[in-house]
Amino acid sequence: TARYRKDYKAPSFSIDTVDLHFYLDDTCTRVVNTMQVQKRDDEPDLVLDGEQLQLVQVTLDDRLLVAEQDYKVGRKSLTIYNVPAQFSLTIENTINPSANTALEGLYKSAGVFCSQCEAEGFRRITYFLDRPDVLSVYTTTLYVANKEEYPHLLSNGNKVDTGTTAEGLSWVRWHDPYPKPSYLFAVVAGDFDLLEDTYTTAEGRQVLLQFFVDKGNLNKAYFAMEALKNSMRWDEQRFGLSYDLDIYMVVAVDFFNMGAMENKGLNVFNSKFVLADEASATDQDFINVEAVIGHEYFHNWTGNRITCRDWFQLSLKEGLTVFREQEFSADQGMRAVNRIQDVRIMRTHQFEEDAGPMAHAIRPDIVVEMNNFYTVTIYNKGAEVVRMLHTLLGEQTFQAGMRRYIADNDGKAATCNDFLQAMEQASGRNLNQFKRWYSQAGTPEISVQTDYSRRQRKLTVTISQASDKPANAPFHIPIQVELLSQQGEPLHPPELPVNSVLELTEPEQTFTFTGLKEAPVFAPLANFSAPVKCNDTRSLDELITITRFAQDAFLRWDAVQQLYSQAVHEAIAQGGALTLPNALIDGLKASLTDGNSDPALVALLLQIPSEEGVAAEFKYVPVSAIHRAITELHEALARGLYTELLQAWDMHWPQATDKQAAFSKEAIAARMLCNTCLGYLAAMTDSEAVHERLQRQFAAEQSMTLVFGALQAAVHNQHRLAEVQLAQFANRWQHDPLVMDKWLAVQATVRHASSIAKVHELTEHSAFDWSNPNRVYALLASFSHNFAQLHQADGAGYALLVSAIKRLNTANPQVASRLLSPLLNWRRFNDARQGLLQQVLSDLRNMPDLAPDLFEKIEQSLR
Ligand code: ARG
Ligand code: ZN
Repeated sequence: TARYRKDYKAPSFSIDTVDLHFYLDDTCTRVVNTMQVQKRDDEPDLVLDGEQLQLVQVTLDDRLLVAEQDYKVGRKSLTIYNVPAQFSLTIENTINPSANTALEGLYKSAGVFCSQCEAEGFRRITYFLDRPDVLSVYTTTLYVANKEEYPHLLSNGNKVDTGTTAEGLSWVRWHDPYPKPSYLFAVVAGDFDLLEDTYTTAEGRQVLLQFFVDKGNLNKAYFAMEALKNSMRWDEQRFGLSYDLDIYMVVAVDFFNMGAMENKGLNVFNSKFVLADEASATDQDFINVEAVIGHEYFHNWTGNRITCRDWFQLSLKEGLTVFREQEFSADQGMRAVNRIQDVRIMRTHQFEEDAGPMAHAIRPDIVVEMNNFYTVTIYNKGAEVVRMLHTLLGEQTFQAGMRRYIADNDGKAATCNDFLQAMEQASGRNLNQFKRWYSQAGTPEISVQTDYSRRQRKLTVTISQASDKPANAPFHIPIQVELLSQQGEPLHPPELPVNSVLELTEPEQTFTFTGLKEAPVFAPLANFSAPVKCNDTRSLDELITITRFAQDAFLRWDAVQQLYSQAVHEAIAQGGALTLPNALIDGLKASLTDGNSDPALVALLLQIPSEEGVAAEFKYVPVSAIHRAITELHEALARGLYTELLQAWDMHWPQATDKQAAFSKEAIAARMLCNTCLGYLAAMTDSEAVHERLQRQFAAEQSMTLVFGALQAAVHNQHRLAEVQLAQFANRWQHDPLVMDKWLAVQATVRHASSIAKVHELTEHSAFDWSNPNRVYALLASFSHNFAQLHQADGAGYALLVSAIKRLNTANPQVASRLLSPLLNWRRFNDARQGLLQQVLSDLRNMPDLAPDLFEKIEQSLR
């Protein structure tokens, strides 16, 4: 059943304290939950949320309640009739953590008890007002029969006491002084290796930092510990925010649906975002660990101290925290590279979501299953919206707005409007039109027309905006621009604001720039200053000028992307061979062999659009034509740049393998470029020079970045070394599931018809496990983005994905739902595929026990 944002009603009761006792047991954990409850209006009955719980008994102020007379148990609720104004309520219930394969609530997997409560998992632990605007102080006691099996019993806040009961149970008690919503509650029990350190806050408070990891993995936790300390320092320096408890714990678990969870003082992490060493993790893995550690830490202020009033406000904490995480990563050193990668995510995944049946505003209006809304829209577009505010206001004013937001909302459950109001007050600006970014879905498209008058030395720029959602009112769009002379010098005419940001607020607006003695090159959307499409009509010459001379790295990169995209679209339109402009090839040759340009940026220039990315540009998607064009583009670059690719690989190889500089920016950049070069070179299957370098790089045992880069190059180009390298890699890494995930993923993403049979075969491999989300994502979610193979004309790709979804529907609906998304946008394909997709979607809809997660998406898609 759907819930609407407009129906928000403040809770009728507050729960001021919660005293929880967990008697942990694999199949029958007993939970005793004592709450101090207060009435806030004249509602007679208290209705608590609860799912899949076995109720034992209910006591109200020491009176044992009688079923039917005093209370009623529903399938998803417990109603207590006629409660007094203020009372103590004790609920006793049992749960089965071992049977919990959905990994929501309290579950046991790989010998560890752990919990995941966001968004609505707490109601699978005990009956409660499981909504984010009910803030309570929690005290939690964990009891176990066998202390040796569970030496670490953890919950939020500070450890306040330990002991043994008369029956011989060991217990540990935790108290969290900060009132919090139930979704931030967590418990963990298990046997771990423990890495400890301390951090002293700006105010001089000593904080104990603890990482709990699987036995034997301690040496893989050091990097995450450093990342945590860096995050704590960065948040003090850039945002003036310090940590507020005496202890910060991170637990790495192997079974986890998402990336990580910011539970107060006790983060629970998917182990892939904690564990990393150079032999088994790629540079990108390290970068991801740092980003996710930062993200969860930054939530302590943007999420925990200030939380969300209701789940429609999710982007209040997620968009803002992703923005903070992105700024943290950027300040750590590779700002331009990060920005380009973030833009790629927006364009390939968020624009796609906005164009499909699940399109929603960053503050949605209607939700069936909240777990379906942890999306690229809420997270990444939400961050882009915060970034636009930052662009409009500037760092200083934005930070003043943050201080205001925190001063006014600390300890509260807030709304997106509260955030905007703080920004308005700090800046004195009216953000009424800007607010539309929160309520309107869809991707605006801007069109730019320029007109130069030599006589008046004047450039007139007309910018218009249109939306893919006809009902949308015009957005307030910050457009950062660069003006370049034909020779590439930066121009700054007097009409251009100091921050170079034009503000488009009307459907169409004209901007004029004077004092220009020749027609300049006008480059809009520097730094991707707004999450919009840009309908570009610039000439080849202008694009080439931008690729060479724009100050902003994103603009240079984007101009090259447009040249690729033009070539691909022409080849598709003409059904003929793909051709690339000579000026583009010459430019790429120059960048490859120029020892002075940043190799990371050169690597990104060489990254061609994905099939999925190109598909997102079409209203009706020509699947095989896109596949053909992308293949030709890859081969054309491999052939056209062969000599320079080899030269660049040789030039950067020493830096890529420099042990002293192992994790320096320079070494990471060198490895990025070596991998990119090899990714093309491996297409030259007859070249001995390539064969030798593929082998040399695959043998670079100390660096997973290089080893996996070589493997991926060989496998994706179907080089004759692929089979033996796959076998060697599996043999070397069979004991390490996170590394084997890469091995699964690289095979699932081969752009060849054989991948379907391969994925099918790999579901039987010992490295695969249906019950572990990381394995399913590595093999099946990876395949679901292998565009042309998923959309094979005979429907074999759909069949593969659908059988996985059916299998996971009851076992783990959150994972099943993630696999479903690439099938929803069926209207954009040809008749035959539309028929096949409609058929599989209605098959799924007819499944008995269809999970709400799947139901919501299928309904949206078929309506
Ligand atoms: N709040 C977590 C984070 O941003 C994600 C939790 C996702 N939970 C879910 N049920 N989808 O890091
Ligand atoms: Zn988050």
